[in-house]
Amino acid sequence: MTLRIGVLISGRGTNLQALIDACAEPTYPAEIAMVISNEPDAKGLERAQDARIPTKIIEHRAFMDRSAFEAALTSSLQRAGVELVCNAGFMRILTGTFVDTWHNRAINIHPSLLPAFTGLKTHERAIRSGVRFSGCTVHFIRAALDAGPIIIQSVVPVLPTDTPEDLAARVLESEHKCLPQAVRWIAEGRVRVVDEIVQIEEADGTTDVLTNPSIAS
Ligand code: GRF
Repeated sequence: MTLRIGVLISGRGTNLQALIDACAEPTYPAEIAMVISNEPDAKGLERAQDARIPTKIIEHRAFMDRSAFEAALTSSLQRAGVELVCNAGFMRILTGTFVDTWHNRAINIHPSLLPAFTGLKTHERAIRSGVRFSGCTVHFIRAALDAGPIIIQSVVPVLPTDTPEDLAARVLESEHKCLPQAVRWIAEGRVRVVDEIVQIEEADGTTDVLTNPSIAS
């Protein structure tokens, strides 16, 4: 039995591609039941079509308000038998009933080490603030923007010469590993949320310490 996931996108869909590639492995415990985009021109739609995954365009602009848009999302996801929703570069805030309906069954990937740098322009803001590390976070979705129990994070250094594009590329590579990993753990039934903290059965922590700049020898 594989977990049926629904992927929400708005753009180029490289995180979607990471999930498509993971699902192509015979032992991967999830399958993509449907890809929904709120943008008709999202490049990710082609990726889904190439992989013969059903797609749907649900344009937020076509709805009276956010809740009508979200109700349409939920009904399409439910009709496709989706058990877990994955936001993979989905650029709409999800609220109220949607968040409640999919409580602990909807995840998001964000390109920073949350709770730092919620929202947009994360890489530009990370560089400007002078942090030595950034990274990505996969978390369960809650009503607040880019908040919710954290499943996995990956850390990358911020280098003195980095442009926002350089940092984005480095973080994106780690996103492509973290999102399929989070879905795998959930599909394997190893993830529990206790008091808003995620517990993952038999996942090892790491005691590796990173310093940046490296400490001179
Ligand atoms: C990713 O960096 C994701 O974390 C952010 O938007 C970007 C989407 O990239 N929310 P892609 O569409 O998956 O290539």
